[in-house]
Amino acid sequence: MSKVTVIGAGNVGATCANILAIKETANEVVLIDIKEGFAEGKMLDIFQTESLLDVDTKVVGVTNDYSKTANSDVIVVTSGLPRKPGMTREELIGVNAGIVKSVVTSALEFSPNAIVIIISNPMDPMTYLAGKITGLPKNRIFGMGGALDSARFKCYLSKALDVNINDIECMVIGGHGDTTMIPLLSKATYKGVPVTEFASEEVLKKVVADTMVGGATLTGLLGTSAWYAPGAAGAYVVESILKDQKKVIPSCVALDGEYGQTDICIGVPAVIGRNGVEKVLEISLTDEEKALFEKSVEAVRATNAVLKEINVL
Ligand code: APR
Repeated sequence: MSKVTVIGAGNVGATCANILAIKETANEVVLIDIKEGFAEGKMLDIFQTESLLDVDTKVVGVTNDYSKTANSDVIVVTSGLPRKPGMTREELIGVNAGIVKSVVTSALEFSPNAIVIIISNPMDPMTYLAGKITGLPKNRIFGMGGALDSARFKCYLSKALDVNINDIECMVIGGHGDTTMIPLLSKATYKGVPVTEFASEEVLKKVVADTMVGGATLTGLLGTSAWYAPGAAGAYVVESILKDQKKVIPSCVALDGEYGQTDICIGVPAVIGRNGVEKVLEISLTDEEKALFEKSVEAVRATNAVLKEINVL
């Protein structure tokens, strides 16, 4: 029997809960929100799709009652403000830090053995904060940003090459920010063949640029930040954990010397299985990618420092 709690019943949280329910990834999915009746409504609506979709997942919506989340195997944190057009993810730090801190603490009281996935933005400092305040080992608390950014990279590569999206393999590492993420062109392949064999440097440069502002583009179009792909990316990570799939998913992990870094949570390729982050993969990077990673580390460290300035850490 497996149980997942998704905190935050807004666009991202409800989408994530919906996918977990209709894919029957867990036996029970609990959605919790601070807004009275909101999570209850979302889960009732999702439950009413189950007979139409021939699925049978226990779905529960609750307002702020963490006792209903007890003994969850995985906790997904999406509560907090989304971006508005023109905003960076980093600008959300003040409000979202307080929210993330309180919800993670409450959820772990009832599910002390859970694996925690942070989605709330700015995701890298929120993961760092949650790791510090809970003291959880690095395998049990990490951030979902790389799965989403890599899916967006895949989308733009498949469009540029005009090929099946599922024949593309690629990853994005570094921070989950418009200027800090690093789509790794050197590792991107179409059916195992480097994408550089199928597209010009100019086309691939545009793919990288589009990927980096992938979230901002959607925020501009939608008036708030995206939810289908962020919710699906959260569910994808949960599935790799509960089904012990051991997928390699770029994830925001606390580094202990990997890539020469300590005391930071940032996106690196990781094996995600039943124990959460089971391994950090240290892959070779080109000199240019190494320099970009260093720059990204500096930017994420600067945002982490804000947590101290605003006294949440
Ligand atoms: N406890 C529980 N839920 C909360 C709390 C709290 N303390 N504070 C806020 N929430 C809830 C809100 O009531 C709302 O329903 O979090 C939900 C957020 O939903 P949306 O506003 O729709 O935001 P969403 O688009 O889902 O994004 C959530 O994920 O991708 C990130 O940048 C995004 O930080 C944002 C987060």
